[in-house]
This record gives sequence, structure tokens and C-alpha cells, in this order.
Amino acid sequence: MNLVSLREVLEPAAEGGYAVGAFNANNMEIVQAIIEAAAEENSPVIVQASQGAIRYAGLDFIVAMVKAAAGGVKIPVVLHLDHGTDYEQVIRCIRYGFSSVMYDGSQLPLEENIAMTRRVVEIARAVGVSVEGELGKIGGTEDDVTVEEREALLTEPAEAVRFVQETEVDALAVAVGTAHGPYKFEPALDYPRLQQIKELVSASIVLHGSSGVPDEAIKKAVALGVTKFNIDTQIRQAFVQAVSAYMQANPEDIDPRKILAPGKAAAKEIIKEKMRLFGCAGKA
Ligand code: G3H
Ligand code: 13P
Ligand code: ZN
Repeated sequence: MNLVSLREVLEPAAEGGYAVGAFNANNMEIVQAIIEAAAEENSPVIVQASQGAIRYAGLDFIVAMVKAAAGGVKIPVVLHLDHGTDYEQVIRCIRYGFSSVMYDGSQLPLEENIAMTRRVVEIARAVGVSVEGELGKIGGTEDDVTVEEREALLTEPAEAVRFVQETEVDALAVAVGTAHGPYKFEPALDYPRLQQIKELVSASIVLHGSSGVPDEAIKKAVALGVTKFNIDTQIRQAFVQAVSAYMQANPEDIDPRKILAPGKAAAKEIIKEKMRLFGCAGKA
């Protein structure tokens, strides 16, 4: 199937009361794991490429791999730029065939974030590409901040209303207590804040840093209207643990195909689990 935009998978999700998984890919095995998992679960899926993925694999390889994988299945697939921070790169991604882009201006002052995100929306919308923006600072689990400091980084509901009205983004990534990378402590989500944002804002709500968020918290966030969850860390962990276990058990093996296959299988398994948890399994 041809690539589709976020709207085509997130609008049915909002109506159906479920969320769609957005999984980060950096190489062929993980692209295949994501698409095969989605096909076997009959699930819509979002494959996303970060700045690191683009540096590692190159835009042309990412697009070619995702198109090749999506071409062989009947489920809807979105190819999404994750955390784009450079306007020109966003345009390049659209030209290369991404069906969706994130412009992350969360490090900019609000006015500049709004202005830059709006510029991206104007160009993307003209060619049917969806846009995710970010407001508030999601950060990493390694960031050493106090509770008060973290609170100050969370998305302000009133600002979210203004941001969405003025930019007209399709989706909004919010900071409500999740962080990128492995958690040292169980994350505490600010549900009242999430609920307030959801009630006030028309755009789809996105949670980044969803790896390691307990299942019950994910279910609660789905019930409050989150329709896109980003997962990277748990795929990396599953992949590396399986490859490492294989290599320890087979130290003489020098065939990369045999070494990487267990990594792909483990990635596929965790992706399927997340699809069932988000409720998108069976919804393609
Ligand atoms: O949002 C962060 C993702 O986990 C991507 O990380 O830039 O190392 O690929 P990365
Ligand atoms: P995790 O690596 O914590 O799953 O976060 C992924 C993410 O938010 C990508 O944008
Ligand atoms: Zn993220």
C-alpha cells in the first residue's frame, strides 16, 4: 500500500478510542520488524526516522526501505520524520517521499516555535503531508532536573491552545511527564494536565518517550485521548539483548544474517505487544 499521512491513521483512532504506535527505525531489520509486526497484527503503523537515523542510514535508504516494505503489505503505513529541527531538512524529507513530518521547535521561544511550525504546515499541507509540532520540553531520562524544574518544562494547556490554533498542526507532542530513553524511576504522568490539553485542543495528542511507561498508564492515556505513542528504546533493548545472547551462545558464528535475525525477531515481538496494548491491532 502507498504511504499515508498521520490524519489517515489518527482520525480513525480518535473515533475508535485507540492509539497508533510510532516506532523508530534505523536499519533494514527494524524496518522489516515494524512492517511485518503491523501486517501480522493487521494494524496501521507509523515508521519514524530521527536525526540519528538519517545520519546513520541516509534519507534515500530510509525512504527506499520503508517503501519496499510497505509496498508488500495491505495495511496503512505512515513514514514520519521524528524531531525535525531544520526547516530545510523537513523540506528535503517531503521531497524524498515522507508522508508526515515533525517539526520540533520546543527549544525555541514560543513565538519562534509557532512561526517556524506554521511555515512547515503551510508547505506540507500543500502536498498532503501531515505535521506534528512540539510544545513543552520532553527531554531525556538522563537530564538532571528537580521536580520543580521538570514541572516548568511541562506543556501549558493555554499555550497548547494558542499553538494549535496558530500553527494548525495535525498532531501535538506534549510534555506531561514522559522522557526519552530508559527510565531510572517509574514515570509519573500528569493526567489532569493531559486531560485539560485534550479537552482544549483539536489536534491529535502524541506521547514521546513511551518505552518503559507502565501498561496501566498507557491505557489511561489512551482513555484520555492520546492517539500516537512513540517507541524507540524498548526496540533497541530487545534487539541488542537478542543479538548479544545469540553471540554469546554462538561465539564462532561470523554470519551477520544469523546474528541479526534474532534481533529482528525480538524487535517484532515487542512491537506486536505494543500494538495490542495501544489497541491498534486489528484496526488496519
Ligand atoms: O526521540 C529520540 C529517539 O529515541 C531517537 O534517538 O536520535 O538516537 O535515533 P536517536
Ligand atoms: P523512547 O526511546 O523513550 O521510546 O522515546 C521514543 C521517542 O519519543 C521518539 O521520538
Ligand atoms: Zn521523541
